[in-house]
Order: sequence, then structure tokens, then C-alpha cells
Amino acid sequence: MCGIVGAVSTRNIVPILVQGLQRLEYRGYDSCGVAVHAASRHAPHRGAGLQRARSTARVAELLQQVQAEHIDGATGIAHTRWATHGAPAQHNAHPHFSHGRGHAGATAGSARDAAGRAGDAQGKAGDAQGKAGDAQGKAGDAEGRVALVHNGIIENHEELSAALQASGYLFTSQTDTEVIAHLIDSHYSGDLLAAVQASVVQLHGAYAIAVMHKDEPHRVVGACAGSPLVLGVGKNGAEHFLASDAMALAGVTDQIVYLQEGDLADLQPGRYAIAGKTQGGASQPLTPAQRPVCTVQAHSGAVELGPYRHYMQKEIFEQPRVIADTLEGLEDITPALFDGAHPHQARAAAQVFAEIDSVLILACGSSYYSGCTAKYWLEAIAGIPTQVEVASEYRYRTSVPNPRSLVVAISQSGETADTLAALRHAQSLDMQHRLTICNVATSTMVRECPLAYITRAGVEIGVASTKAFTTQLAGLFLLTLALARSKGRLSQEQEAAHLQAMRHLPKALQAVLALEPQLISWAQDFARMENALFLGRGLHYPIALEGALKLKEISYIHAEAYPAGELKHGPLALVTSAMPVVTVAPNDALLEKLKSNMQEVRARAGTLYVLADADTCIESSAGLHVIRMPGHGGPLSPLLHVVPLQLLAYHTACVRGTDVDKPRNLAKSVTVE
Ligand code: F6R
Repeated sequence: MCGIVGAVSTRNIVPILVQGLQRLEYRGYDSCGVAVHAASRHAPHRGAGLQRARSTARVAELLQQVQAEHIDGATGIAHTRWATHGAPAQHNAHPHFSHGRGHAGATAGSARDAAGRAGDAQGKAGDAQGKAGDAQGKAGDAEGRVALVHNGIIENHEELSAALQASGYLFTSQTDTEVIAHLIDSHYSGDLLAAVQASVVQLHGAYAIAVMHKDEPHRVVGACAGSPLVLGVGKNGAEHFLASDAMALAGVTDQIVYLQEGDLADLQPGRYAIAGKTQGGASQPLTPAQRPVCTVQAHSGAVELGPYRHYMQKEIFEQPRVIADTLEGLEDITPALFDGAHPHQARAAAQVFAEIDSVLILACGSSYYSGCTAKYWLEAIAGIPTQVEVASEYRYRTSVPNPRSLVVAISQSGETADTLAALRHAQSLDMQHRLTICNVATSTMVRECPLAYITRAGVEIGVASTKAFTTQLAGLFLLTLALARSKGRLSQEQEAAHLQAMRHLPKALQAVLALEPQLISWAQDFARMENALFLGRGLHYPIALEGALKLKEISYIHAEAYPAGELKHGPLALVTSAMPVVTVAPNDALLEKLKSNMQEVRARAGTLYVLADADTCIESSAGLHVIRMPGHGGPLSPLLHVVPLQLLAYHTACVRGTDVDKPRNLAKSVTVE
């Protein structure tokens, strides 16, 4: 899962490629690289071949490397990587080159062996890999025939690689990507587009690729299936671009073509052509395809940090504002709020809501937890049976489809591969009532769903979701009210009371944020721990899950969440004085039950950290730390209780000195399964 950019122009496109990578770092940041055709801009004395720079540092450092090595050109491709196959090392970084059959030289061959021996191990082995990769990089960079960047996973790479090795290709990485470069080289006979066409029909899996050939200095070919790719039409049609999303091209062009499944794109200065999926094999002539050019006002993603130390902290503190934005102009709850971006394609939400008899929520990670919270609302307030499924499970299991179910896909990015696949799976099972709750209006999910609600979180840069989560909850609460109204479950007075409670949220959130100093103090304790338990009940069990996820992903402390009633069925065995137990304790119908669960922890010398509503009569004492929440949010309480958990994770990570905004091994948008 990665981000790719490509460009053909008459000016030096390296700054555009690198800027594009910076905007795509949310898709992965294990390594990055850029390749240009040196002959695309300069006379042959500069060397006529493909040049590249690759780095396991962040994109900002790649820029320095590119400048130091004087890499520039008018045709180029670039990549930012989230490692799937092969460790994050320079020799596994894209762009990958093919040097042709039997041509990589002894250096590259031994580099491959050294890298293979080193495997994915850490320490010395990792160094050996790095050095081997560097050696290969230097040996191969001047000789590349094909340069390629890839986002996706090639499932049959081992089989293809065996055949290519047998025919004399030398591999220098452990990626599933390198095989595509060699495959294209093996099919090349003077026309890059034809070679790509012949190659992609042999690929199983998901790919978005951008490719150059050393003999065609003014051409980049793209192809995609299962991974997104957009084509940007540049100024006066003189230059053209490829990118994993439109945001990568913000400020360069707003004229965007969304390539479709199986499309090939041929980019040259002054012209571009798109061909649709080849039916019946590579020998068939290409079918030209007309795809609409959309004007897309993509946000550049460049956001000022202001007085904050990290984007995550800034985004936590933005929550009162983004919830206020969500509620702006909201007079009453109309199903039209969910009509989405393409109401002309869709049946109006009002009609759909009247027909459905259940809800099926599909999502991953934090978005899944917002869906779990919504289940409580949808069943209690709207009386609608609701099922919440982890998208990566739902897409592969045999389920019983209900055509009268409203399928709700929740996603910050709108590009999460598992959620998209689950949505398409539901569609293939004849579930036509599909709605997405999504933060990116231009995303694939919004484009594919007949109904949509766009959350107003704004660009979320921190990898750990915060404001996107709370705006999802706000959107899901509105959906609950709209469905409750449509099913006749809500009087005008009840609806008005719920809306009033929502309007109070920004102020209530502000009061919760004022608790930050107390959470900084808790964080000092947590930073010394290696494990933590989170407990909640009812509506707040998903909030405990979300709190545990936040702590693990940014502080690397192992954390688990349980419905508090489950404690005695197993996890209580873990409770010792070294196991902090965070308890979400709102003053609701389950409070007395929760207090008994807390006693069970105290009786085993466990230390409790309790987020209690103002009127819960839980007082701090030895082994019992209490932070008093400013008020009680009623059914909206999950939006308030999640905030201290975000702050606890954030400050614990700060004490431990982790990379808060870009935690190890993760990416903002998970575009592979
Ligand atoms: C956790 C987090 C992830 C995402 C998940 C789904 O902080 O951000 O768990 O929630 O990867 O991503 P979206 O919402 O983009 O589908």
C-alpha cells in the first residue's frame, strides 16, 4: 500500500513529484524514491538513461538527496511505500528497474544474495541488506531499461518471478513489485503501452502502476485494477500526470480523470489517451475509452501546525470546531442530509429509509468502533436491528444477504481497500441500499455509493484518527435520528431534545479538553507500563476499544479493551499492580454494575484510572485515580468520553518519545487488503 505519482512535461517535474509524494505520505512512509528520464530535458551529454534516488528516510530528505545528486528531468515517476513484501530497506524501495535479461551485473546479483540472506531480520542483517541494496542501487541506476512504481499487491509474483528468473532476469529486491518491471521488459519491443498491455493481463492481485522506458524519454504509461489511479490534465494540455489521488496534484492541476478498473493510460506531452480493460487477452487491439474530466478542488493537505507540537494534538483540539461545523445550518433532521454527492444517480434517501428494515455497518479500525457505537443508538433510538461487521471479515465470509438492509460503509479516507471490497461484495449480493459516512468527498467510496454523508472533520493528518472519529459519531447520530423519524419512532419534542444536546456538544467538548493537565499527569504513569486494560459497558464499550487502539498505535503499549462484565471471565487473571485499568464510567443505567467490576479490580491490587461523570460519587483513593468529566452527555456521552482517552494516548506517546503523527508500521490510508 503506497502512493504513486508520474508526470510528463517539458519542464523539470522533480519538485512536482516530490511535493506529490509529501501529500501521499498518508499512504505509507517506510521508504520513498523518484526516477526521471535524464534525456527528457537535457541534451544527451547528461546521460541518456533512467536515473533514480531512493531513501528509507522521509520524503523531505529525499528532496535533499535529489538536489545533491542533480536529478532532474521532464518525465518521471515517484513512490512512497508502506512495506508489504520485503523489509523497509533501500533495495526494496521503488522505483524498481529492470535491466533486461541477464543484465544486472555481478554487483546486483550478489546484492540480491546478500539481501536474501539478510532476510527481514533486524540489526546486523538489516545493515547488510541496506549496504547490499545501496550497492545494487549504484550498479543498477545507470542501466535501467524499465522504471516502475506500484501500489497494490501482486498475488502471483512468485510464479511469474520463477519464470522470469528462468529466462535470465536477475532480481534485486524482495518485493512483489519488481516482477512487473521485468515482465514489461520481457514484452517490450519498441512500444511501452503494448508491453504494459501484454503484462497486466498476467497479473493477479491489485495494482496501480506508472512506468517509463529508457527508449521513450517522453512517455509514462499507467494502469490500474483494484488500486486507485487518477490522471491529471495539466495546463493547456501540455503536461499530464498520474497519481494515487487528486490531492497529490493540488496546485498543479484541478482537471482530474478518475481511471476505471482495468484502464491503461498513455501520457505524453501534449496528448494523453486512455484504453479500457482489454477483453479477450493482450493480443486484442486496445479499445479507446472516454472518461470524463472532473474539476476537483482537492485540498493540498498542507496544514499549519500552529501552536501545537503534533498534528494529532491539533486535531484533538479541533474537535469542538469540527463538530460545530457539522451542525452548522442544521435546522431539523431530514433524510436529504444523506442524499450524497450524486443525488441524480440515486433514489433519494427518504425513499430508501422508508424501505429498509435493518442496518449493516461495514468498516475497519476506529471507523469500525464508531459503527459499534452507532449500533447501540440505532437499536435503542430508531428500533432498527443493526449488525456491525469488520470489513475484512465480511468480504470473505458466507453471510445471509438482506436486500432490505441499509449497508453503511464508514471510512475517514473513503479508500480503505477492505471496506471498499466489502461494500462491493454487499452490492454483488443484491444489497442496493448503500450509504457511506466518509470524510473525503472525492473518494472512491463516495463516488461508488448512491447515498453519502460527508463528515466535516477537514483534513486529518495524524495517522491515529481523532476528529474524524468524533465527526463519524456525529454523522451516525444524525443517521439514527433520520431513521428514527422515518420509522415513526421519534416525536418532534424528542428530536428537538436530541438536536439541542448535539448543539451543546462543542461547548461540552471544550470543557473536556480543559482536563488535559490531569491526563498529562496520568500519562507519566502509563509511559512506564507495558500493558493496559480498558473497560467500558454498553455504549462506552466501543469507546474503551477505541481508547485501547489509540494507546497501542502511538505509544506501542499493549492494550486491550473489554466490556467490564467480561472481566471475571478471563482477563481478571492479568490484573496485578503493574496493570493499569482504565475505566470509562459515565453516570448511566450501568454505573452500579460497573462499580462492582471496579471492586473486582481493586480486590486484586489493580490500579484504576477512572473517567467518571460529575455526579457518580466515585472518589480518588489509594490505587484509584479519578478524573471527573464536566457533565453528562446522555446518549452523546461517547463523543465526550473518547477525548480524554485520545489525550491519554497522545501524552503517553510524547513521554515515550514515539513518532506520534507517523507511528511505526502504519499508514493513514490502508489501500491494500
Ligand atoms: C486508527 C485508525 C485506523 C482507521 C482504519 C480505517 O487510529 O485511524 O484504525 O480507522 O484504518 O480507515 P478509514 O476510516 O480511512 O477507512
